[in-house]
This record gives sequence, structure tokens and C-alpha cells, in this order.
Amino acid sequence: MAKIVVGIGGGIAAYKVATVVSKLVQANHDLHIAMTHGAEHFVGHSTFTALCNRPPVCSTYDPRFPLGAHIELADGADLLVIAPATARILASCAGGSADDLLATLYLSCKCPVLLAPAMSSPMWDKPAVQRNAKQLRADGVHFVGPESGWLSCRKMGTGRMSEPEALLAEVQTLLPS
Ligand SMILES: Cc1cc2nc3c(=O)[nH]c(=O)nc-3n(C[C@H](O)[C@H](O)[C@H](O)COP(=O)(O)O)c2cc1C
Repeated sequence: MAKIVVGIGGGIAAYKVATVVSKLVQANHDLHIAMTHGAEHFVGHSTFTALCNRPPVCSTYDPRFPLGAHIELADGADLLVIAPATARILASCAGGSADDLLATLYLSCKCPVLLAPAMSSPMWDKPAVQRNAKQLRADGVHFVGPESGWLSCRKMGTGRMSEPEALLAEVQTLLPS
């Protein structure tokens, strides 16, 4: 059983993360969810509370974690998955700015990190976003996607978050054997 922390960013693709989390729970892993305030616009606490049997963490200052949620979630984690990884999350992580729970968690984790970016294709193509992705790859962060296909902005292009099956396959390769 691995401790897997799943960070959810504020994008439409957040709904796909419920499937990923459910499958990992069924595989007997210990799942912890951290959500950005953006993510709270797209998916509900109740879904993840039920799937994981514990409420998601949405604030660095959550009183359940006296040492800081970023510290306690990172402690003993085998894998941090951030999906969807928004342009904002890529920028914060690439820049090392601990400006919210997920970015602070990213800095606090010693375990492998898997990012599943999702955004519109103009956003993904933007040099600033590409620079951040390149920096994160150079920092040893693992990526899955984004894929090309139908985007929620009703256009075809690159920026679609990978499907749950692809995320799960990548998670499998990163978990300790
Ligand atoms: C309908 C809608 C869909 C969005 N989808 C995305 C997305 O897929 N990727 C992204 O980077 N930002 C997306 N955004 C913008 C983010 O929600 C916004 O940049 C937010 O500040 C991200 O915050 P977070 O990274 O803390 O979750 C979307 C916004 C709206 C209103």
C-alpha cells in the first residue's frame, strides 16, 4: 500500500480525477487529496471525502494539521500526482514559489512528482508555459500528457488532460515496487 497525495487544480478536467482516485483506492492505496480553491469550482468535497474516506485538504492552514498541511501530507508520501496541473500550478512549481497549498506541497515532497497538465491549446503553446514545463522536466518532474483532441473550450487542439487509464499506468511506473 502506497501513500499517494493527489493535488487537484482548477480546470474542467478535475472531474476525471475522481476516476483515478477511485481506482487507486480500489488498488488498496492510501489516498490524500489536496484541492486548490480553483478546483473547488469544478469538483465537490463530498465526492473525494467518500472516495478516500477522509475530507480533502483545501488550505495550508487546515487545523487538522498542526505542523502545516504541506508538511504532514508530504511526510511519508510515495508519490505526488497533480491533475489537472493548471498553467498557474506549472508556474508556481517551476518558480519554486510556495504561494498556495499545492505549490508548497510540491516543494515539501521528497517523493516522485507526476503532473498531468490541462489547458487550452493557446495556453499550452504559450512560451511562458512551455518554459515552465521544460524547467519542471529538467527538475526531474514526470509528465503525462497533455494530449491532442477535444478541449472543453469546444475546439480541437493540444492541452487535453490524459485519460484516467494513462494516468494510472504512469502512476504504476512511479510507485515503489
Ligand atoms: C471554465 C473554466 C475552465 C478552466 N480550465 C482551465 C484549465 O483547463 N487549465 C488551466 O490552466 N486553467 C483553467 N482555467 C483557469 C483557472 O481556473 C485559473 O487560472 C485559476 O486561477 C487556476 O487556479 P489553481 O491553479 O489554483 O487551481 C479555467 C477557468 C474556467 C472558468
